[in-house]
Amino acid sequence: MTGQTAPAQPGAQISIDVPAKINPHLGVGDPRADGYHALSTVYQAISLHDTVTAQRRSEGNGEPGIEITISGEGAGTLPTDEANLAYKAAKLIALYAGIEPDVKLHLNKRIPVAGGLAGGSADAAGALIACARLWEVEIGDAELERLAAGLGSDVPFCLKGGTAIGSGRGEKLTPVNAKGTWHWVVATTDTQISTPDCYKEVDRLREDGIGRYSSDVDPLVRAFESGASADELARLLINDMEAAAVSLRPQLASLMHGGLEEGALAAHVSGSGPTVLFLATDVKHAVALARRIRMRGGAKSVHLAHGPVNGPAA
Ligand code: C5P
Repeated sequence: MTGQTAPAQPGAQISIDVPAKINPHLGVGDPRADGYHALSTVYQAISLHDTVTAQRRSEGNGEPGIEITISGEGAGTLPTDEANLAYKAAKLIALYAGIEPDVKLHLNKRIPVAGGLAGGSADAAGALIACARLWEVEIGDAELERLAAGLGSDVPFCLKGGTAIGSGRGEKLTPVNAKGTWHWVVATTDTQISTPDCYKEVDRLREDGIGRYSSDVDPLVRAFESGASADELARLLINDMEAAAVSLRPQLASLMHGGLEEGALAAHVSGSGPTVLFLATDVKHAVALARRIRMRGGAKSVHLAHGPVNGPAA
């Protein structure tokens, strides 16, 4: 952020679009001593995004402090207090800068909630950037990433966008130069899966000998770097959490099967689920596939998305 922190004029409103993420490769290792699982993942930002808008609270009639309002997906069900990761992000950046927080944050949500698409992490990343600009906080990229990692494993990637390898617990990033655009149909369901519950289910299944750690991301990284066709990509998608997500929400199996019957090149649970991603050949195929999946029923909502897209944009 250093050098690009434009001064916020009185009454200024700062709006940041932050994309959802998918994990075309999600390898989950054993739990570490700190309780987190070692990850070997490839992240990709896709064209579904939330918008985070920030303005000084004291410039309305409010006292300084942090206030959150939410519209769109999940509004009314999401917390607007400290339990919201965007609230924590605003508090953290104020603490870093040694100032009293003074912000009204509005989250306009399009990313499905608790769907495995990092919607909460995207809002936190957006709040970090928006508050840093609003309060004119001098902070370098490395420091911003460190704060992001403290908020959650996916938040550093949400700051970056594009395509990246994630290691550690997902917070250590290596950018990947993906050459191409891939098209997805994103099908949400009317259930949610908590991320910790899904990791616990991975552990439980492993105790029964089900599933193993897919640690090698290289084939998928090479495919992205060489602009592989969607057909090739379909053969390389891996999610070590898929069996756990299906075990927790068995209805996912029929949603996935239905999409394949309708002609998807692959069905892939997004992160810890329960959102299911269907890979299409191209945009025309994606439009037709989305229509067929909608008509079939079984999904709560069906969206079109492509990736990779750039990270947070003002
Ligand atoms: O990092 P984040 O706060 O998003 O993680 C939420 C929860 O997911 C953690 O508390 C942990 O239970 C689980 N998790 C994990 N291994 C990871 C990332 C998350 O076990 N690599």
